[in-house]
Amino acid sequence: MLKRAVPLVLLTALGIAACGGNDNSSGSSGASGPSGGGSAKASKVAVLLPDTKSSVRYEEFDRPLLTKAFKAAGVPVQVSNAQGDTQAQRTQADQAMTNGAKVILLDALDSGTGAAIEADAQSKGVKVIDYDRLVLNGTADYYVSFDNTEVGRLQGQGLVSCLGSKSGGVPIAILDGSPTDNNATLFKNGAHQILDPKFKAGTYRKVAEQAVPDWDNQQALTIFEQMLQKTNNKIDGVLAANDGLANSAISALKARRLPQIPITGQDATLQGIQNIITGDQCMTVYKPIQQEVDAASKLATALAKGQTPTGVTSTTDNGSKKVPSILLKPISVTKDNLKTYFGRADFPAQSQVCAGKVASACTKAGL
Ligand code: BGC
Repeated sequence: MLKRAVPLVLLTALGIAACGGNDNSSGSSGASGPSGGGSAKASKVAVLLPDTKSSVRYEEFDRPLLTKAFKAAGVPVQVSNAQGDTQAQRTQADQAMTNGAKVILLDALDSGTGAAIEADAQSKGVKVIDYDRLVLNGTADYYVSFDNTEVGRLQGQGLVSCLGSKSGGVPIAILDGSPTDNNATLFKNGAHQILDPKFKAGTYRKVAEQAVPDWDNQQALTIFEQMLQKTNNKIDGVLAANDGLANSAISALKARRLPQIPITGQDATLQGIQNIITGDQCMTVYKPIQQEVDAASKLATALAKGQTPTGVTSTTDNGSKKVPSILLKPISVTKDNLKTYFGRADFPAQSQVCAGKVASACTKAGL
């Protein structure tokens, strides 16, 4: 045991272990120096991100901001991305623990995978923080995310306000997120809290609703194509659960040369913000990822130093336990308020947003 442990430690110290192995990790910040300020030496933290295609957020914002936060805290961190492969996520978790990780920030691909990782971690004395997505029936020690039902409510309210005074059975289509992502269920619940009374009153009419497996944008395009087909192109508003799904709907409308209609989104991605400026999308939900990163990295840092974390504000029932939680506030972003957020580290930069094709629309919008 000892014979095997020594070379591993050496490899890790040399930053070699992070590059090897059979995981799909697309980089690692490697180990940073010992913690400063005389505080306890931190053990290693592993961050497991789910994919690169369901949203650009993971590589654009989560990875760089988490890497920076742990570096600043003097905590060695390794960030991996499972590229949508559940087996890869399990392998990455396994390797992280073999390489000495004592805390895992887990953004699980699905609850089955997440719960298996958590059971394994628990048996090895490794702490797990559910990062962004709650693992149902898991054993996580903490959960850091946004108020995801509120995200859905903001989308519903955004759609209502973009439709304005339209009534008389406005045909609405809904593209929900992945059925295996608990967040998607919460977004859907929140959106329905706002839209169902409108459906009941006959103000709007729900003409289609479908979940998009794995949040796959390509499948969303096909699904929305079929929705247009089925309704003879009569869809006047779309509740899309994130910017990627929104863009699939926008692409389908453009392919049929149909006019712009109100479409919601989430994540304040570069494409989402550009679609808002060009009028193709009516709103997005901006979740300040910097705040999520700050909360999660603070918790993880305390755990990595063997301290009791502070800052927990609530608990969330995952089906088998109440998980101490920090749930942050999402923000509704439209053409009217988007410039307020330019300049933030977790929001697309104005220079990028207003480049190329979007430049003239930016000028028109006074940006
Ligand atoms: C996240 C969203 C993201 C979606 C697809 C959700 O769990 O909360 O921000 O758009 O997954 O990756």
